[in-house]
Amino acid sequence: MSEAVGKMLGVGRALGSRVVTNKDLEETLETDDAWVTERTGIRERRFVAEGEDCATLAVDASKAALAHAGVEGEELDLILCATSTAPESMPSVACLVGEAIGAPGVGAFDVAAACAGYSYAANVASSMLKGGAARRMLLIGADAMTKIVDQNERSTAVLFADGAGAVVLEKGDGESGFVDHILGADGRMAPLLRAGHPGAEEKLYQNGREVFKFAVRIFPEMVEKLLARNDVNPDEVQYVIPHQANARIIQAAVRKMRIPEERVVVNMDRYGNTSAASIPISYPDIYADFEPGRYVITVGFGSGLTWAANLYRI
Ligand SMILES: CC(C)(COP(=O)(O)OP(=O)(O)OC[C@H]1O[C@@H](n2cnc3c(N)ncnc32)[C@H](O)[C@@H]1OP(=O)(O)O)[C@@H](O)C(=O)NCCC(=O)NCCS
Repeated sequence: MSEAVGKMLGVGRALGSRVVTNKDLEETLETDDAWVTERTGIRERRFVAEGEDCATLAVDASKAALAHAGVEGEELDLILCATSTAPESMPSVACLVGEAIGAPGVGAFDVAAACAGYSYAANVASSMLKGGAARRMLLIGADAMTKIVDQNERSTAVLFADGAGAVVLEKGDGESGFVDHILGADGRMAPLLRAGHPGAEEKLYQNGREVFKFAVRIFPEMVEKLLARNDVNPDEVQYVIPHQANARIIQAAVRKMRIPEERVVVNMDRYGNTSAASIPISYPDIYADFEPGRYVITVGFGSGLTWAANLYRI
């Protein structure tokens, strides 16, 4: 059995404090609840309120994960945050988290891979744990997408939202942790999905149809590749946690996989597309049910275009 690195000790999340339903959006956009629910699977989402941003969400999620793990900030030796919506170009969100959780001097940096960010950063995390650069660390996915989305553009405003998820990882005993990763990117497809920095005039643009087709192809392809090359039987997979872009992407992908839909985790109905946060914000809902020895597959895809997936043994 291949060695597992990066055992989860605790998980936490934070969400924008404004609950915004599809009905609420009907007041400002030419849209309707039925269209959004049917075309995307999203019923409501959480937006940041005054005083909240990607960094405050990352801090709150990190504090929740540390409390869950029973670990203090000063006991960490690395903070890694996947995000594309840091409030400022510098410092990184990870540095702001380090300050807020009482971890001065602890190495901290951000990873930018858009909606594939968490899946990318999980690979970086396990590599650093394996190589000895860190023994116990925070892995965060955080995005405040409302800062880069035009709230008057109905085709994107209904999709994206704000949240953060965090995980405390330690190297572990080789039994539980990440056992394999996939990373990919193709900058030729950059024009399909792009956005300016928070505060910039250039808001998020996407070619929804092309991104949809790409996601439906790459998602099951990565799952099958991880199963095949690690000799894992689909029955051994307890959960697949995909990036939460659109419920129809998940349904179409499931038809191409050997894992039944009930084992595929969905949170977009409540939280929308929270980009790098969409995978880790689901952990608090399922962590207590994790069955040792089984597997969790996380699958990300997004702007870049980027894609990444991880096989985690519980
Ligand atoms: C964006 C997305 C939901 C659009 O769904 P779609 O079925 O492709 O719909 P289309 O783009 O063909 O648009 C159909 C119609 O609905 C309209 N429409 C778009 N947004 C709407 C909204 N919020 N409310 C009502 N109508 C809307 C369009 O203007 C279009 O009208 P037209 O036919 O008169 O031009 C879908 O393409 C999608 O989810 N793509 C993937 C995007 C994604 O996941 N991005 C992030 C990846 S990380």
